[in-house]
Amino acid sequence: MDYQFILLTRDPAGFAVVQLNRPDVLNAINRKLMEELVAALEGLDEDENIRCIVLTGNEKAFAAGADIKEMSDASTVEMLLRDQFARWDRIRKIKTPIIAAVSGFALGGGCELMMACDIVIASETARIGQPEINIGVMPGAGGTQRLTRAVGKTKAMEMVLTGKMISAQEALQWGLVNKVVPVEFYLEEAKSLATEIAQKPPLAVRLAKEAILKAFDTTIEGGLEFERKNFYLLFASEDQKEGMKAFSEKRKAQWKGR
Ligand code: CAA
Repeated sequence: MDYQFILLTRDPAGFAVVQLNRPDVLNAINRKLMEELVAALEGLDEDENIRCIVLTGNEKAFAAGADIKEMSDASTVEMLLRDQFARWDRIRKIKTPIIAAVSGFALGGGCELMMACDIVIASETARIGQPEINIGVMPGAGGTQRLTRAVGKTKAMEMVLTGKMISAQEALQWGLVNKVVPVEFYLEEAKSLATEIAQKPPLAVRLAKEAILKAFDTTIEGGLEFERKNFYLLFASEDQKEGMKAFSEKRKAQWKGR
């Protein structure tokens, strides 16, 4: 598939890099970009050779939010019919781990996209925020929910109600990102983490990701039960037999993803 607003590269180390590519507008997320992004992620999710995905923008912007110009004249009914956030729900269903490599602005929908990823590597220049309040609206792609779960009520309130941006270091302290590195290394760092995850048994990776995400929408009891079932399920895999045998034989396991 030919993409207009994203660049997709597959790395022989078993991961893919998806780069948002509307640099003139700081990677503002319009409907076409979102359509392409979801199609790319779903395609990669079906590719057995891809075991981790790095999602990135450029040094200046991961993404400066939803495309304001595209929606500024829309009516409520048009917004409802467009149902643009339905595509965001599909990102939540991607089973392959997604690492966000974030530099520059990650604002509004950009911050929400970052939070929809599983791990976040940020450059020291990252500026993260939910500034929708400044243009008369509020987060619409998960910001009030994911941000609150990530940083707690008081900090989420402050960010969403003032619209102020936080620095990479603040985001690190608040648990919104995993690691902050100098700008020249953020993508390499994310790729190196992707390489590491790509070398793990893929079924166990997928089921572990699924179980962690379950923690956000279930009770502790329901979550523990879900975890346990995924754990038992892995005993039906060849990789479980191989992993435990390799441990006993003091050799490196050879994963089949079966
Ligand atoms: N939508 C559309 N265009 C955008 C954009 C956006 N979200 N963000 C930046 N751009 C465009 C600008 O209009 C500008 O285009 P032109 O050159 O054609 O004028 C270009 O990108 C560069 O931007 P600036 O000149 O503004 O760059 P700057 O360095 O002076 O400022 C900024 C950078 C602070 C990020 C500023 O661009 C800004 O405030 N952007 C909007 C951020 C925002 O409000 N995001 C939330 C959007 S709503 C949303 O995301 C809803 C949701 O929950 C899904």
